[in-house]
Amino acid sequence: MASETVSPREYGLGKTHRHDNWWVGPMATAIGLGGFGVYATFRAIYNAEYVVGHGTQTLPESAYLLSPFYSPLLVFPWLPSWLSPAFLILWAPGGFRLTCYYYRKAYYRAFFLDPPACAVGEPRNAYQGETKLFLFQNLHRYFLYFALIFLVLLAIDVVHACLWPSGGGMTFGISVGTLVLALNVTLLSLYTFSCHSWRHLVGGKVDCFSCVALGQARYKAWKRVSFLNKTHMLWAWTSLFGVGFADFYVWMVASGRITDLRIF
Ligand code: FES
Repeated sequence: MASETVSPREYGLGKTHRHDNWWVGPMATAIGLGGFGVYATFRAIYNAEYVVGHGTQTLPESAYLLSPFYSPLLVFPWLPSWLSPAFLILWAPGGFRLTCYYYRKAYYRAFFLDPPACAVGEPRNAYQGETKLFLFQNLHRYFLYFALIFLVLLAIDVVHACLWPSGGGMTFGISVGTLVLALNVTLLSLYTFSCHSWRHLVGGKVDCFSCVALGQARYKAWKRVSFLNKTHMLWAWTSLFGVGFADFYVWMVASGRITDLRIF
């Protein structure tokens, strides 16, 4: 006798034949992304204690440490005091993450439960794809260009974090803060250069490498990016916590709660 197969979708939201802990992933994503979103919004609204070092009023004898949430340092006299410069900056890296191919899967599952996981019932019966409002996800490749600019700006911040005031000039030095900022830009670079859009830009759209200019070089670059691309999820999370920690560290130093230890 033929038996009728019923899909989890037909059962309803959260119904499944799976016996593993499929809900752990979406729940961890909701906690991680939600927690970061709350922290970043708070710090942007806080609008203080984000920079220390020479040329600033906070710890002028220290190396220059600038929170990545406020980099580049925007000093506009016309900026109203209620408008944090972080909001003029964070839309770009925020948009890059919001439209990231990996994060899309993660937050569609964690926040929209659409579906919560593979082979688990979802709230809707029909697949509608990324249409209407979700068409903005196609902007990812353009956010990538902004992300590349921010990598350069953050790398310049690391260079500044190696310069300590000495007499009338500067000396080279490294502190824990320097290492924190360097780690942040390293993790962000790994995240950016493992991006699917970057991979496409490097060589994904080429049908024949030997037929285009610099074909061999592009093929090698594409192979390396493809290798990195396999671990994109890892870099997505480590860079997220890295950038949050870098801001937190600068905040703690700028507020006087901790001292930035100079290593040499
Ligand atoms: S796909 Fe994740 S950053 Fe581009």
